[in-house]
Amino acid sequence: MRINRSTDLYFLNNWSKENSIFNKLIENYKAYILKFLNTFAKKINPMPFQSLKPQVESILNSGELSVDNRLMQICELLKENIPYYNWVGFYFKNGDKNELKLGPFAGEPTDHIIIPFGKGICGQVAVSNQNFVVADVEAQDNYIACSIHVKAEIVVPLFLNGENVGQIDIDSNTANPFSNKDERFLEFVNEKVAEILS
Ligand code: SME
Repeated sequence: MRINRSTDLYFLNNWSKENSIFNKLIENYKAYILKFLNTFAKKINPMPFQSLKPQVESILNSGELSVDNRLMQICELLKENIPYYNWVGFYFKNGDKNELKLGPFAGEPTDHIIIPFGKGICGQVAVSNQNFVVADVEAQDNYIACSIHVKAEIVVPLFLNGENVGQIDIDSNTANPFSNKDERFLEFVNEKVAEILS
């Protein structure tokens, strides 16, 4: 019903204000729903290692960021995109001591900041220079538990000029989740990390 021009303007003004609040609400819901669907999509169809490789390289090539910041982003990238990676971290040789020191990581904080060479899965990799894939942590005698939820672990050494200077360590809450595809991918990650350490 048309009363007069000022009533029309009043109505229009309020209608557009309400409409903009309504649009904001819709945008918020859309973002929320997309985030929700994305979580499921990642679980159903995890990002394949092949498509994570360029992202790993791009993070490591961000030369304006500190090495620790870039390594932290790598940990987060892997933890967020590989559903059975529940804790991802780097350990490095602690100066000239025969021990490992925790570096950047993503996941629950751990008490095991320092690990002597030979102790636990990590300490064994520090001396063996070999990948260590643990399908069932309960079956291991020389294992350091970080969380009661962890069922499996993979540790891949990181070489700089042929020397074992550290490792990437993944804990999984899923039993027996790792294959040789994980090993090849984590070796790739460590090779790329070594390039920014040298
Ligand atoms: N489980 C490891 C200790 C490090 S945590 O997993 C973060 C080990 O046995 O060496």
